[in-house]
Amino acid sequence: MNALVRLGVVLVVASTGCSNDSTAEGENAAAPDAAQTDAAQADAAQVDATGPDAAPPAPTWHQDVAPIVLTYCADCHSGIGIAPFPLRTADEVRRMGPSVVAAVESRTMPPWEAAPGRIAYRFDESLSDAQIATLQAWVAAGGPEGDPASAAPPLERERSALSRVDFKTGMAALYRPVGRPDDYRCFILDWPFEAERFVTGFAVQPGNPRMAHHASAYIFGPENAARVDQMDADDPEVGYACYGAPYVGSPINMQFLGAWAPGGAGFDFPEGTGIRVRPGSRMVLQMHYNVSESGPAPDRTELAFRLADSVADEAWILPWFDLDWVLRPDSMRIPAGATGVEHVFEGDPSNAAITRFVLPGLDLSRGLVLHQVAAHMHTRGVRIHAEVTRDDGTETPLLDIPRWDYDWQRTYTFAEPVSVSPGERLRMGCRWDNAAPDAIDRAWGEGSDDEMCAVTYFVTLPAAR
Ligand code: HEC
Repeated sequence: MNALVRLGVVLVVASTGCSNDSTAEGENAAAPDAAQTDAAQADAAQVDATGPDAAPPAPTWHQDVAPIVLTYCADCHSGIGIAPFPLRTADEVRRMGPSVVAAVESRTMPPWEAAPGRIAYRFDESLSDAQIATLQAWVAAGGPEGDPASAAPPLERERSALSRVDFKTGMAALYRPVGRPDDYRCFILDWPFEAERFVTGFAVQPGNPRMAHHASAYIFGPENAARVDQMDADDPEVGYACYGAPYVGSPINMQFLGAWAPGGAGFDFPEGTGIRVRPGSRMVLQMHYNVSESGPAPDRTELAFRLADSVADEAWILPWFDLDWVLRPDSMRIPAGATGVEHVFEGDPSNAAITRFVLPGLDLSRGLVLHQVAAHMHTRGVRIHAEVTRDDGTETPLLDIPRWDYDWQRTYTFAEPVSVSPGERLRMGCRWDNAAPDAIDRAWGEGSDDEMCAVTYFVTLPAAR
């Protein structure tokens, strides 16, 4: 900031005959209580430094920074949500300046884990390189305010939303988290329909937004209802403790509906598609609570659904991982002390064991169309990636999360659906670091001492020819 601020001070002094006091204040600009003066001076720099050799003007709050922060940060950093501090005003952002810069440079904030530039997604919440540079330059310049009279309008960002609510269901009773600071818990939600219904969209409506870190929804078919009810009955509180998967013990077949992160208003599934729910199914909501900010308080979260009696294109959730990793845990071993351990799986979706296990009877011999992707690992995961290997040997990237963060799992919707022809292969892989001093050998499992490596696709069949 200093060069620009000093230039501003010099120009202000030159043009208005200000006393030397303001120069002294300018030199002292890092002091928080000088922030206002500082900002005014940097504005002066912007106005006056217009010569051909002048440095580009510093970005200002009203013209450059507010649109970015209000569009990409303030939904969560609102003072009433899960984020630890508000980011709504120039003061609030300036005060957090260095950590804001660190968080956007490392792309940990906004929490959008997919690496940029591989494949386009709808509802992208990540910042562009230019927006990151604007935040860096603004903080470096001391956070100048600019002129509120010519404030820039909010940025356009495509936001997902649930267009209609046909049915709402919630946790059976209030739950107060016991884990500190994180508590992971599954709740069975009432699903009263006596006929088949198709879910065509859903939204998570947290009862207590200050604790709701993320959430996932699942459907268990009627054949597994008794086991799910038993898990609930075995735990004295409402719901049951669950971590990596919405069940305890040996794997149970289920359909993953989607993941929600704070700030999200839910989403409609792609036009014309829906996921079948049979009568007697169990709808399960997995909540990740974090009570660092709020302390433990009671919560009753609700799920809102858009429903249809029939749909043009039935959709399925196709989980994609090596079934061997589940059946023979040693096949996905992550030895204690090891870093950079990788496991990769590639297969033809029409005849892979995982397809036959999870979606028995589904005929993918004409290929399939992918609409959304989500990824899942536990806390030692470093990277997860997924791609299509085409017939000609080229690859279409689908998702690459280069710095996995268990706390920010979400569903990514492709900007254009991705067709996979018969014979083309889906590949995915994970990398782990397991070198902590207390490390133990790890393998597939749903507990917090275990690891998982899975992607799920929201798929439909190609249009009939
Ligand atoms: C989807 C909600 C969400 C959005 C959007 C979001 N944040 Fe955050 N932010 C959080 C949460 C929650 C935390 C607490 C740490 C955690 O749980 O990851 C956090 C933590 C932070 C921190 C503390 C340091 C760190 O990295 O943990 C900074 C700085 C930050 N956010 C800045 C930003 C900025 C700047 C933006 C916009 C460019 C932004 N955040 C957008 C939810 C969000």
